[in-house]
Amino acid sequence: MSKNINELMVLRSSARAFAKELIINKQDVMDLIEAARMAPTSYGLQNFKIIHLPQSEFRESLNSLFYNQLNFITASDYFLFVADSGTKILNETIEKSVGDIMGDVTSEKSLNFINNIKNSYEVRFGDNERLANEWSSKSAYIASGIVTVAAAEKDIDTCIMEGFDGKKLNELFWEKNLIQKDEFICLGMALGKIFEETKNKNHAKKIRKKLVDFYKEVK
Ligand SMILES: Cc1cc2nc3c(=O)[nH]c(=O)nc-3n(C[C@H](O)[C@H](O)[C@H](O)COP(=O)(O)O)c2cc1C
Repeated sequence: MSKNINELMVLRSSARAFAKELIINKQDVMDLIEAARMAPTSYGLQNFKIIHLPQSEFRESLNSLFYNQLNFITASDYFLFVADSGTKILNETIEKSVGDIMGDVTSEKSLNFINNIKNSYEVRFGDNERLANEWSSKSAYIASGIVTVAAAEKDIDTCIMEGFDGKKLNELFWEKNLIQKDEFICLGMALGKIFEETKNKNHAKKIRKKLVDFYKEVK
């Protein structure tokens, strides 16, 4: 019987290891990528994308950059979220997404929209690229939450992961031309099926703030 979102959120847990031989079917993987593609982004900038790593020798060669975490090593599939840097956003992403939204980049309306976004960027980040990059990566984080729920609905286990050597990983991907110099990997996500025994053990351990500490109504 299908579960509602609240039930899925209580029952899901971050997978620390997967049954490596249980491979997710390609259509489910593509459905999850589609869920991420449909995620909202600030101003509709669409400032991130996903690199999909199925099990492969290449992925195995990255194990140490993920500190040999079992969830990376044993995942059926792994998503790398790649965000546009502040430089790319200013040089390319804003015009591109306004063009997508408005159908042109030359009308007064479109030019105003572009200027609004650029002004807001200037006020918030000035020439602080690092701050802009942090902001840019938020889109990927939002999408990763959506994929988490979409996967749970398919009974696919996941783990969002920040635990990797971002400097070395990005250098490798830049060097291999797998991402552009003005893009960076900001987040990872392991997907697969965990062993049933582990599942039950983890569910008992769900640790969250009490509702009274988490929620406050202000009128
Ligand atoms: C942004 C973020 C980064 C995370 N990084 C890792 C990671 O590198 N390795 C890992 O095993 N779990 C990672 N987790 C999973 C958390 O440890 C997990 O969500 C948390 O302990 C709550 O447990 P639950 O998801 O099972 O309810 C990450 C979660 C988030 C949201």
